Amino acid sequence: MEIAPGAFHLRQFLPVAAQRALLDRCQSLLDGDVPGYVPTVRGGGKMHVRMLCLGRHWNGQTYRYEPTRADFDNLRAPSLPSELRDLASEIATACGMTLEPDICILNYYDHEGRMGLHQDKDEGARSIAAGVPVVSVSLGDTARFLFGGTRRRDPVEALMLESGDAFVFGGPSRLRYHGVSRIVPQTAPSALGIDGRFNLTFRQYDLDGA
Ligand code: SIN
Ligand code: MN
Repeated sequence: MEIAPGAFHLRQFLPVAAQRALLDRCQSLLDGDVPGYVPTVRGGGKMHVRMLCLGRHWNGQTYRYEPTRADFDNLRAPSLPSELRDLASEIATACGMTLEPDICILNYYDHEGRMGLHQDKDEGARSIAAGVPVVSVSLGDTARFLFGGTRRRDPVEALMLESGDAFVFGGPSRLRYHGVSRIVPQTAPSALGIDGRFNLTFRQYDLDGA
């Protein structure tokens, strides 16, 4: 399950009943009072996901985290529910790492959804320097996930992330490039009754208040 130092693919971490409960939670969050939206990034392009940030908002214009959604509707980012926080901590622990998440980015991908190769590097400098991991949980249709090196031109490996899988990258893998090249339609467990894919990524911005 360790695919590179600090990077772990935990297949079928969540049983289907837990996936179902998490999916219901994701759907109600995304359609809640502070709804998911399609970010417009620097340069004017729209992302190919519907996004909702919990705990802190990621601003697609400044690439910084902030309390309110200044690049969209100025609403305050909803708080990160404690059971989601606990799930992410449990997954990090299963990989021998520690995470006390204060941010979750919830993304919904339809069949056309994707995400270009990027690094997660907008969290606190101390957290990144310490290699505090990003924990990702996938629900619904399978994604072709790309995992590269710490330089954009490094070779990239493709992994299929299925419903219930967790993926963790911390330590020396914390700044590896990654992305989603495509969603494979009709691959979600039928018990979920979902078209498309949810992904949750948990991060820790603050490490000892910095
Ligand atoms: C991300 O890198 O923010 C999302 C990755 C994924 O959807 O698996
Ligand atoms: Mn990312």
